[in-house]
Amino acid sequence: MPAGQTMQERTDSMSEQKQSQTTGLPAGIQVPDTMAIIMDGNGRWAKKRGLPRTAGHKKGADTIHTIGLEANRLGVKKLILYAFSTENWKRPEDEVGYLCKLPGLFFDRYIRDLMNNNIRVTFAGELGRFPDSTQKVIRRAVEQTEDNTGLELCIAINYGARRELLLAAQKYAEDVRNGRENNVTEEEFSKYLFVPEEVDLLIRTSGEERISNFLLWQLAYSELIFTPTAWPDFDESSLRECITEYNHRERRFGGVKA
Ligand code: FPP
Repeated sequence: MPAGQTMQERTDSMSEQKQSQTTGLPAGIQVPDTMAIIMDGNGRWAKKRGLPRTAGHKKGADTIHTIGLEANRLGVKKLILYAFSTENWKRPEDEVGYLCKLPGLFFDRYIRDLMNNNIRVTFAGELGRFPDSTQKVIRRAVEQTEDNTGLELCIAINYGARRELLLAAQKYAEDVRNGRENNVTEEEFSKYLFVPEEVDLLIRTSGEERISNFLLWQLAYSELIFTPTAWPDFDESSLRECITEYNHRERRFGGVKA
């Protein structure tokens, strides 16, 4: 045992080495509980290859599977993915049509694997505007996976943070008026949101550096990482690099260094 090292320190360092070997993360790394990703760059990825934008979305859906599995393996508790914003309805009709079909294609291909890996699917947003068939496949995936206890893979779909806050405020005010709610606190209010958790780490792919109406409440104290990698090229090692970078940040939540 190295001089000056206690038995406990030796055990800790051995288990850190083991963690590092099995996870592929540097020793002693803390994995964020709640992560969110703005999956950007599908269109540019496709254009660069002379492909239609939909080919970028198709590859982007495969990346959801890859990154979901890796986040689960690393022990992330919840991963929220921005798949379709309230503003995305403005895109050309054929692209919107394809994005509405993608959840069906995705779950047909991957639901078995999500089940085998104990991953639970949830969604955030207003499903009602989607065609019945899209709503059906999403609700079915949620039901099928509801007893799984691994990663919660939350797909934000027809989601906009301002709309989320507006709906929550409306429901909250109603409950306060009716006497069902009398604790006017941030913690109580957050329970009315589609996503009640605080986000530890937000990643946006493909070089843009903005939030685009995503999780405005939940990102209050998040660490933000903007990577130039396009979403279809984002892989397991990209995720591990972001988690490592997150560990180099000093989170003070408005306080001072201890
Ligand atoms: C942004 O890239 C991406 C989207 C608006 C769609 C993201 C959707 C998926 C990755 C698949 C969804 C699948 C399921 C299963 C829900 P962009 O098109 O804005 O890219 P660009 O900025 O390069 O044009």
